[in-house]
Amino acid sequence: MKNVTVVLGAFYGDEGKGKVIDYLSADNKYAVRYSGGNNAGHSVEVNGVKFAFHLLPSGILYDNVKAILGNGVVIDPKVLIEEINNLKEKGYKVNNLYISEKAHVILPYHILLDETLEEARGNKLGTTKRGIGPAYCDKYERSGIRMEDFISRRFKDLLRENIRSKNIILKAYKKPKIKFDDIYKEYKEYAKILKPYVCDTITMLHKAVKNNEKILCEGAQASLLDIDFGSYPFVTSSNPTIGGAITGTGIGAKYIGEVYGVIKAYSSRVGAGPFVTELLDATGDKIRELGHEYGVTTKRPRRCGWLDTVALSYACMINGLTGLCVNHLDTIGKFDKIKMCVAYEYKKKKTTDFTTNIEFLSNCKPIYEEFEGNFGDISKCRKFEELPINAQKYINRIEELTEIPVKFIGVGAGREEIIVR
Ligand code: IMP
Repeated sequence: MKNVTVVLGAFYGDEGKGKVIDYLSADNKYAVRYSGGNNAGHSVEVNGVKFAFHLLPSGILYDNVKAILGNGVVIDPKVLIEEINNLKEKGYKVNNLYISEKAHVILPYHILLDETLEEARGNKLGTTKRGIGPAYCDKYERSGIRMEDFISRRFKDLLRENIRSKNIILKAYKKPKIKFDDIYKEYKEYAKILKPYVCDTITMLHKAVKNNEKILCEGAQASLLDIDFGSYPFVTSSNPTIGGAITGTGIGAKYIGEVYGVIKAYSSRVGAGPFVTELLDATGDKIRELGHEYGVTTKRPRRCGWLDTVALSYACMINGLTGLCVNHLDTIGKFDKIKMCVAYEYKKKKTTDFTTNIEFLSNCKPIYEEFEGNFGDISKCRKFEELPINAQKYINRIEELTEIPVKFIGVGAGREEIIVR
């Protein structure tokens, strides 16, 4: 009864998880987001129409799929309502959305605090300023407002109390006071709109598991941004790794079957923090341009570099991955020569052990193997054997180094441009 599949990012985010999620969605009854909030950005294209989601699971686009925002997610009601309305404008009924009553709510003071704290530390972390960190802080500090509170009478008192304490912090940072009346007036209306979607998703998912229905957990952010396993403090405030799929949904570990890690055939990162294979030269710029590496959420240009299989092997390890999806093989195939990092040099010694210790990562130099590029147009390939031999060699080497099979290969931007093995 291992009917739960998890798709998660195996690097620093933006790996194109939407593509494999999209492929798997048709076969699933449930699509669940388990961590993060609208710091994420999924682009999906269906019947020529482009969708950019920050909060909603991509599975929402399928009528036969129940789309769930799990208890591990933090929800900005305003953004969620915008996404629902956008879908309605495009003809979707959105009657397949379910929001966990245990999910925490992002309120305007979380966003203000995210901005204020980033400013105070000189934009050191490069957060998305969506209020994610402060909302998770409140959750763990136990003053957060959950969906079940938000849609109840308790909201008024909880909001008043939170605003009182946030104003003390804001005053210390010389920021203007936030006003209870304004926020309450606006957000009680949002609560009314969202109320019909709020329910006990934990029991719902448990019943689905028992009925042997297929569930797809859609990861947001990525393994190396994980609060525990990522390059702390340059991380997000939740667990995008496999543990998050359990604590963020209420699904037991024994029901999880496949765990797919998504990467690109090169590496990218947004925001600050170490990045061993980063290319601060014309090659890095070329990857960015060819791969359209600009953030869906913040539009920031992404930092780019060659594929780092040392970091990737760590992501395979901490998640217990059963398969990989390698996207943008077509993009990397546009180079004459391609490099892949196979080990690090640290203090004059070669190592393939990865740790997210900042001092270690900042002082590691990548050791590369070189591959022949010029794959030509591979967008029509649907079988591995149809790929040019140099492209096959590149994929084979990823499998050898990580000891994980590459089960999906992205060969173009279109949703059907994928090889499934
Ligand atoms: P936060 O999640 O907004 O607190 O940002 C913390 C760090 O995670 C920053 O470096 C962000 O750029 C990064 N980050 C958050 N969400 C994503 C994502 O979906 N893709 C890539 N990077 C992300």
